[in-house]
Amino acid sequence: MPRPFVPVLIVPVLALAAAAAQPAHRSTQDGVYTLAQANQGKDLFAGYCQSCHTPTVHAGPPFRNKWFGRTLGELFGYMRREMPKTDPGSLGDEEYATLLAYLMRINGMPTGSTPLAADSAALHRIRIDSLPRSSAAPTSPDHRR
Ligand code: HEC
Repeated sequence: MPRPFVPVLIVPVLALAAAAAQPAHRSTQDGVYTLAQANQGKDLFAGYCQSCHTPTVHAGPPFRNKWFGRTLGELFGYMRREMPKTDPGSLGDEEYATLLAYLMRINGMPTGSTPLAADSAALHRIRIDSLPRSSAAPTSPDHRR
């Protein structure tokens, strides 16, 4: 009796289905950073950033108006390119990631169990938003395909 072909076909199909079901992106409401990370970011902010701007300018309406709908990757890139103003890019990527965590924290975004990775590509898939992934998905540019 010849070997059945079916399993050979099913495995790749299942793999494709799994890949398609994976979320194209997350939002900052999905618990994408840890509390410990935000606390480290708070210390960094006090040491390197607060001399020029208080946390207040990064929380609430000013932050929402400027950053909601954009991605953490954009904010990460901006901070690496421009901040601290006197010495841009002087911190390490991990430090910029903890600063992102701090900014999310002061904007009331929920913490999670996995620290935010200092990975620009991954950060570009996390939308800065007040909506969780499920509600934010239809308007995301990542969702087009
Ligand atoms: C020497 C002063 C100075 C320091 C230090 C500084 N900044 Fe800034 N920052 C500015 C100025 C001025 C702006 C306004 C935009 C501009 O002029 O480029 C700004 C803007 C920003 C913005 C954009 C605000 C918004 O939403 O429009 C972010 C985010 C930011 N800074 C983060 C940081 C972080 C994080 C640090 C510490 C690592 C830092 N800054 C340190 C001067 C500074």
